[in-house]
Amino acid sequence: MGETNINSLFDLQESYIAFVNQWNNSYKLETGHIRKAFCLTMGCQMNAHDSEKLIGMLQEMGYEITQTENDADFIIYNTCCIRANAEEKVYGRLGWLKTLKKRNPNLILAICGCMVQQNEVVEKIDKTYGFVDILFGTYNLYKLPELLSERIKTSSKVRDIWTEQKEIVEEVPTVREHKFKASVNIMYGCDNFCTYCVVPYVRGRERSRRREDIIKEVEALALDGVKEVMLLGQNVNSYGKNLESPTSFAQLLRDINQIDGIERIRFMTSHPKDLSDELIYAMRDCKKVCNYLHLPMQSGSSRLLNKMNRRYTKEQYLSLVDKIRHEIPDISLSTDIIVGFPGETEKDFEETIDVVKKCGFSSAFTFIYSKRPGTPAAAMDCQIDEETAHKRFNRLLDVLNTSIHNTQETKIGKTYNVLAEKESDKAGIITGRAEDNTLIHFNGGTDLIGNTIPVKITENKTFYLIGERI
Ligand code: SAH
Ligand code: SF4
Ligand code: F3S
Repeated sequence: MGETNINSLFDLQESYIAFVNQWNNSYKLETGHIRKAFCLTMGCQMNAHDSEKLIGMLQEMGYEITQTENDADFIIYNTCCIRANAEEKVYGRLGWLKTLKKRNPNLILAICGCMVQQNEVVEKIDKTYGFVDILFGTYNLYKLPELLSERIKTSSKVRDIWTEQKEIVEEVPTVREHKFKASVNIMYGCDNFCTYCVVPYVRGRERSRRREDIIKEVEALALDGVKEVMLLGQNVNSYGKNLESPTSFAQLLRDINQIDGIERIRFMTSHPKDLSDELIYAMRDCKKVCNYLHLPMQSGSSRLLNKMNRRYTKEQYLSLVDKIRHEIPDISLSTDIIVGFPGETEKDFEETIDVVKKCGFSSAFTFIYSKRPGTPAAAMDCQIDEETAHKRFNRLLDVLNTSIHNTQETKIGKTYNVLAEKESDKAGIITGRAEDNTLIHFNGGTDLIGNTIPVKITENKTFYLIGERI
């Protein structure tokens, strides 16, 4: 595909922003209070980046952002549906929101994001949680000002869920979580249809953004003080294939590497089947591209990988890891693993353990398979019972934790350049990330935040390291 009517005219929303802003201003004049909005991010980095846009629009509409539902006048849940428990969390909170809404009938509630792209979810919310004022999906997030205006003007429920991308509106105001780092979408959607996964159904077909638009955005971010960019896509390795003037992700990295002011380039996610030599060389050659790669394996069993429609084998995954380490010896690798996929045997599971032992991951995200309605895997025979899945999950964690601990141990005594991100839960301790994504804690004040600090590692806590400034 790749045919998208790219519409840079966010202007259409400006009159709605002005309307809500006026409405909030009159309220402030009458009552002396500023209306507050709360936005909850429930999903992945793409979902979090969408929330940055929602918050940008909310601020333009005159809302003050609050960190709790309790004092909010407008609540948005930006949902995820990758696993059943993500959805259950929303339903749980909705029960509680009902009491908030009873206490404050002027409270406006909106649910958006991936979960809302599923018909049965919209039906359930309308039937059981009819008090939700606004529902919108992943394709028309930029319409928040219009949908909110409609709700304010008509007091009736507003539902606007598209089944496909009609246009991409790019110039949505965005409030970044950090001044010094930013996420940039380079593509939307996914065409891979891994048999367990709901993303292609709720985010639509793969669409790459034009190279010029991405470069322009990163240049503007650099001028605004951003040092680290995270390029986002479900499968960044296939970036650019379907553009009018086709390009590649490797070329995009080389282009962004030239942008003054940007010091670090990260990206996610890479699908092993599309990780080209050209990309490995670009990672190796570009100074600013971090020596870190998230390479989801999902399973170590070639038989299951085939049933998952991942289109690579255990051997191909392992030789890819070898090739990457050969070109970039100091690279850190992380992965995603699913346990309990339909039909998983003890032997399949042991293959996964074997890959974990061989790859030396620095971190890993592990999940118990969750049946997603409408996906091919949901209809497969031999669904794994909960107890077996949990037992395997715990066994996997044991092996992973030992392996991660050993990988991290090799970092003791070495010095890393750490981009200081925030104060940890403990005052006087700053946490940040090394170029290879290692999480590092060290003594320091909040004045260091946003700076790159050399830190020598002294202690290994497995999921983070402790170091001293040198
Ligand atoms: N596009 C990315 C992943 C996005 S979803 C990729 O292909 O790597 C993030 C992770 O959630 C996946 O890598 C997978 O490990 C996990 N996941 C997706 N669907 C799942 C399901 N139905 N049950 C359990 N885990 C799932
Ligand atoms: Fe889901 Fe597979 Fe697409 Fe990742 S590549 S989003 S796991 S379908
Ligand atoms: Fe992300 Fe969850 Fe949607 S993982 S793409 S928010 S289903």
